[in-house]
Amino acid sequence: MYYSDDILDQVRSANDIVDVIGQDVKLKRAGSSYVGLCPFHNEKTPSFSVSRQKQMYYCFGCHRGGNVITYIEEYNNMGFLEAVQYLAERAGITLPQSSISPEEKKSMSERTQLLEVNRLAGTYYYYSLRSAAGKSGMEYLRSRGLTDETMKAFALGYAPKTPSDGLYRYMKSKGVSDDLLRRSGLMNVDLKRGTMYDKFWNRVIFPILDTSNKIIGFGGRVMGDAKPKYLNSPETKIFDKSRNLYALNLARRTREDYLILCEGYMDVISMHQAGFTNAVASLGTSLTPGHCALLARYTKKVVLSYDSDSAGVAAAMRAIPMLRRAQITPRILRLDPYKDPDEMIQALGHDAVKERLEKAQNALMFEIEITKRDYDLSDPEAKTRFFESVAARIAALETEMERQNYIDAVCREYLVDRKQLQELVTRRLVAGPASHSGDAYESGHGATSGEEEPSLDPAYDPAALYGYDEGGFYEDEATGEMYQAPPSASRKNRAATVREQGDDISRKLLLNYICRYPSVFETVKKYVQPADFGGGLLTRAAEEIYAQMERFGRVEEASVLSHFTETQDQAQIAGIFHTLDQAASGKDREKAVRETLLKVFTASDAGSRTDLQQMIQRKKLETELRSVKLNL
Ligand code: GTP
Ligand code: MN
Repeated sequence: MYYSDDILDQVRSANDIVDVIGQDVKLKRAGSSYVGLCPFHNEKTPSFSVSRQKQMYYCFGCHRGGNVITYIEEYNNMGFLEAVQYLAERAGITLPQSSISPEEKKSMSERTQLLEVNRLAGTYYYYSLRSAAGKSGMEYLRSRGLTDETMKAFALGYAPKTPSDGLYRYMKSKGVSDDLLRRSGLMNVDLKRGTMYDKFWNRVIFPILDTSNKIIGFGGRVMGDAKPKYLNSPETKIFDKSRNLYALNLARRTREDYLILCEGYMDVISMHQAGFTNAVASLGTSLTPGHCALLARYTKKVVLSYDSDSAGVAAAMRAIPMLRRAQITPRILRLDPYKDPDEMIQALGHDAVKERLEKAQNALMFEIEITKRDYDLSDPEAKTRFFESVAARIAALETEMERQNYIDAVCREYLVDRKQLQELVTRRLVAGPASHSGDAYESGHGATSGEEEPSLDPAYDPAALYGYDEGGFYEDEATGEMYQAPPSASRKNRAATVREQGDDISRKLLLNYICRYPSVFETVKKYVQPADFGGGLLTRAAEEIYAQMERFGRVEEASVLSHFTETQDQAQIAGIFHTLDQAASGKDREKAVRETLLKVFTASDAGSRTDLQQMIQRKKLETELRSVKLNL
């Protein structure tokens, strides 16, 4: 299952990144690198850079990046092994055949093991659907209007009726332990007898993939009206329902600048089949702040296409303020008279749905329309209260222009006198926000600030990771390579986070300097060790960079990346190699490097030691460091 570093190096060096990416993206030469339109997000001016020297790509807009293997994984939606195989084939390299040895199995992390079990289960379901035993599943999916191509794109499968322990037996034939199966959520366990049964049985199967195309769970639907309609995998170590979205692995590739958020798996699949490949759904749970943060990594605009029944409307009313808090502008797709997007597409077809999508209703007007149902407008008093609530919503808008636009829109729609509504809004504004504490956006349903996303997990901080900055990069005069300026920590609001972020920026810069100016390494390593890089991802990167420096006296950027398996981590590391303080490329280079080194040194945990002797020693080092000569 695992290829050695040697093999991976061989595959990488046989596939020049500029050639490989050049097949998909039109690249133009710019200095010593190449630029083009990013294939991973929608843009009009190129911010996607490919460097032959570094054998890396990086997008200064969406901050995706990596080496040639990462690129193939991301662009072709492939897993790591599949990408390696693809590139090996492209270069005519024969890969050694290998399988998992018992030792390797043991050492695989829990996560890897569960992913492997899911991959096996996915394979079993997939082939079952396409075998004789899968006939009824196939007939059902066809009756829902799905083509073979769609079934393949979503890797749909079937859990056969007979044998009812088919998956269990298949797993046994592959040497999967009972213990692992129990943790996978694929089995029901009879505690009394200590036996296990396939959880999914006589159901069509919807594998759920994360954005790196790994199967993290399954949904299974009955082929008729029995209850429960859907069974879903329980949450496991690898399946966090509130942080994953169905079909995001496909939808993230869209060139549209918005995502469509549906309620059901079938809605998403129908949407994709009709050409709306930017549709996603939450996983049998209602929308959470985690979902919103995830969405915000890819887009600022979401069209809600929830069912038109009262449950769907209530869910949309809860989703709207949550999306707004994640800086996403929601709009609402009109489905009536249809129940859900799937039904609408079957009835209307692509063109009419496209038109409805373009006309999707502004969320504020939707909220007003829904609130209206709570008031009996024939009663003058109720009518006044209704318009007061409308005024509160409008007053909560940020700019005067927005407020005026909505006053206009509401007057048109509800035939109310403009002057009167304006007066209500003004009164609200004068009273100030405290009087209604933003209730305009928190429409009941316990949407208190307490449930707000604690955005301390950097992987889910959209601003830090995937905020699309426009431009913000420059060409380094010395080499012609493209770089982005280090982000400023000040845009974060929490004091602790500001400091930590600032520390990480310095750490990233220092790693970059070591790669760029190898001669400083001898001095740097006297003061800071890999452990001083915060202990996480950056420490792991530092370990690899230090090791390469010790061994070869220089760093091969693309091979540092191969030590990280998650594409998200790879993008972060690629970011390191594309971040450069402009000062450090010019005359003030020595000063810039020294100051960064000093920052990393003082930020390191060692600074909080209590041993007096050590403190004195560190103080001495710090003084020395302030004027240290860097061999530049
Ligand atoms: P179809 O009825 O086949 O068109 O499915 P749908 O995708 O339109 O589903 P629906 O709108 O009824 O429900 C939305 C989502 O809620 C589904 O995709 C499931 O994720 C989840 N869901 C629906 N019914 C059940 C159920 O009985 N149990 C669980 N756990 N989840 C369900
Ligand atoms: Mn449906």
